[in-house]
Amino acid sequence: MEVKRIQSLALKQLKEVPPQFIRSANERPENSKAIEGVTVPLISLSQPHHVLVKEIAEAASEWGFFQITHHNISETLIQSLQEVGKEFFALPQEEKEAYANDPSKGKFDGYGTRMTKNLEEKLEWVDYFFHLMAPPSKVNYHLWPKHPSSYREVTENYKKEMLRVTEKVLEVLSEGLGLEREGLKAKLGGEMIELEMKINMYPPCPQPHLALGVEPHTDMSALTILVPNQVPGLQVWKDNNWVAVNYLQDALLVHVGDQLEVLSNGRYKSVLHRSLVNKEKMRMSWAVFVVPPHQAVIGPIPSLINDHNPPKFSTKTFAEYRYRKFNKLSQ
Ligand code: SIN
Ligand code: FE2
Repeated sequence: MEVKRIQSLALKQLKEVPPQFIRSANERPENSKAIEGVTVPLISLSQPHHVLVKEIAEAASEWGFFQITHHNISETLIQSLQEVGKEFFALPQEEKEAYANDPSKGKFDGYGTRMTKNLEEKLEWVDYFFHLMAPPSKVNYHLWPKHPSSYREVTENYKKEMLRVTEKVLEVLSEGLGLEREGLKAKLGGEMIELEMKINMYPPCPQPHLALGVEPHTDMSALTILVPNQVPGLQVWKDNNWVAVNYLQDALLVHVGDQLEVLSNGRYKSVLHRSLVNKEKMRMSWAVFVVPPHQAVIGPIPSLINDHNPPKFSTKTFAEYRYRKFNKLSQ
C-alpha cells in the first residue's frame, strides 16, 4: 500500500496498521515498555540563580533532558499556539497539500510526511509542518500556514518567548560549563541563531503497541524546546531504559541536542528519545529547534579541552553535520 499522509490513512478506520509501520520485535512499544517509578528532572526557572545553574547543568549532563516551569510564557499564548496548529491540520487535505514540502529536493519547509529511502526502513505514524521562525532576515512568511489567519501573529509572539527562554537556558548552560554567560550563544551564531518550528501531528493509530510515532533519535539541534498536547507519548532513554515523560500543564520540555553535546565535548548529553502513538486520541507536539546558522563552525570549545580531556568530536560546519546526519554518514 502506498502511503502519503498518515492523516488520510487514519481516516480509513483500518483495524490494523499497514506492514510498513510494524516495527521489528525489539523496537515495538509492547516489548520495550518504559520503566515504572522514574521521572524526568523538573526545574523551576524562578529559583535562585546558582541553584538553577546547578540543576540545569546536572540534568543536561545526566539526562540531556528536563522540563521547565515558571518560564513566564502565558497560558493563553500556549493555548493559542496549540489552537492554530490544530486548525491547520483540520483544513481540507487539498488545502494542506498546497504546502507540501520535498526534502529530497532540499525543500524542507512546509507540510510533510517522512518517506522511506530503502525497503528495510519503517514508516513513522506522524505528519508534520516545518518552518523557520528566526532570524527575521531569513524567514519566508509565504511558507507559513495562511489559515487560520491568526497563525502568523500567534507564532510570532511565541517566537519572541522562545528567543527569551533560549537565551536564558543557554546562559545557564554556559555558566554550568564555567564559560561566560554569552559563551554558548556566541558559538551558535549570536544574533543569527536560528529557531525552527516543527508541529508534529500523530493521528489515532489502530495498533499503537506495534508502531512508533517517531523512532529513536537524537536531535541535531543545540536545544529543542517542546510543548505537547495532553496526550502523552514522548519517552527519553536513560540508563538503558525508556522513561515516559508525563504531561504537566504549562511545562516546557527541553532536549539537549547534538550541537551542545559537541560544544561541551560530551559534558552535556544529546538525549535519545522516541514517541509513541495512541489508539483513540490524536497526539500533537510543537517542537522548536534552536540551531546555529549553516556556516557556523561547531566543535569542542577550546577552553574545555586539555590533556585529560582530549576532543571527543570533530569540528565541522553545521551544514556538513546536517548533511552527514541526513545521509546517515559517520560524524
Ligand atoms: C520528536 O522528537 O521528533 C518528537 C517528540 C514529540 O512529539 O514529543
Ligand atoms: Fe526529536
